[in-house]
Formats: sequence, C-alpha cells, structure tokens
Amino acid sequence: MGEDNRGRKKEKAAESAASLINDGMVVGLGTGSTAEFVIRKICKRIKDEELELLGVPTSLRTEIMAIECSVPLTTLSEHSSLDLCIDGADQVDSQLNLIKGGWGSHTREKIVSYAAKKLIICVDEEKVVERLNKPVPLEVLPYAAKIVEKQVKEIGGMPILRIDGNRGGYFVTEHGNLVIDADFGVIRNPKEINGTLSSVVGSIEHGIFTNATEVHVGNEKGVKILKRD
Ligand code: A5P
Repeated sequence: MGEDNRGRKKEKAAESAASLINDGMVVGLGTGSTAEFVIRKICKRIKDEELELLGVPTSLRTEIMAIECSVPLTTLSEHSSLDLCIDGADQVDSQLNLIKGGWGSHTREKIVSYAAKKLIICVDEEKVVERLNKPVPLEVLPYAAKIVEKQVKEIGGMPILRIDGNRGGYFVTEHGNLVIDADFGVIRNPKEINGTLSSVVGSIEHGIFTNATEVHVGNEKGVKILKRD
C-alpha cells in the first residue's frame, strides 16, 4: 500500500516533468522506476499529440523500454547538446543537491545530464530531505575495489561493496564494474564531498549530482516544483 502510494507520487512528478518536453527536443532519458513513468508519459504524448523528440538513454534497461514504447533514440555522438535530461533521484536536499545511483547507472546518468541544458529531476516527496544522508554510490573498476575502499575510509566514509539482491554475488554495472556505496552519515558539505569523491583513484563516477535545474516533487495533492535560488 505504501509503495503504491509512493508510486502514484512518482507518477505525478513524472507527468509534470514530461510536460516540459516540446516538439523537436533532444531529451536525456533517466533510469529507475520514476524515469520509467517518464518514458510512459512520453510514449502517451507521442501517441496523443504526435510529439516529436529524440531520446538519449542512460542505461540499457531504459534503451529497451524506450524502443518498446517507440521513442526514437539518438546518441551523444550524434547530439552532444541536449535540451533536457529528465531523471529520478534517490535523495534531494534543500539546495537541490542529489544522490543518485540506486540502480547503478549514475555514470551514464551524470554524463547525459551534463550534456543537457537543463536537468529535471522527478521524485516522490519522501526523498526530499534537509541534508543528504544516504550512502553515495561509486562505480569502481573491479581491479581497484580495495584501493577505493581504502580511500573512502581515509576521507571519513564507510565503504560497502554492493550485493546484487536478485542474482546473488556482487552487483555488476552494465560497464562490468562494481559499486561501492560510501556511507558518510549526514552530508553537511555536498559540494566538497562531490569534489573529493571525484578525485578518488579507481572510481569512474560517483552519485552526488550538483547540477539539477529543478526538482518536481510528487505529493498527495499534486506536484511541487523546487527551483535553484
Ligand atoms: C539510477 O541509477 C538512479 O540514479 C535512479 O535514478 C534512482 O535510484 C531513483 O530510482 P527510482 O526512481 O526507482 O526511485
């Protein structure tokens, strides 16, 4: 019941974000359950309004879903500047800093989001917090896992190698890498941690995002849009 309710809030946020797409736009397509609601909304707009767009998927799963929904796709090689990127997030703070990577797709998500003029995030209200406090995912070369764990400890984090809950064994990204979730407790300085984690040797990308343009938050009554000051 609780999950259904959160699902409805995610869907409202997704609909609100998908309404920002105009004819002719090139749009980054995020990954996760909320991003999948966005793809369904886009699909409906293609059918109902003959909306024309090109999508850039942030994961194989998203790519497959977009193909099934007949969303025309392109690549960053063909379109290196996108109009929008629409994605979900695991947590959002009051300054619109994000933690992403719950599905292990944050590397492509970050690359696609930086190619976009605007990053539009959609979440249910349960994900909005004053300060970020979830573990931060790092996509890590398997060869470097121990060295990354050591560096995470040195900068005050607790590293946890992610397990694949469905298949058993370690979680492996679609790039063949591992994910280390780095727990820093309450993050008082997301911008600083962002920079510090970017310099961890052996980590390809981490899940702190500081580039959200606006966040569409689904709640019981509708959608609240948070914008950068
Ligand atoms: C994917 O790696 C993540 O960044 C997702 O965007 C994030 O985990 C949100 O997922 P849900 O929309 O499924 O909550």
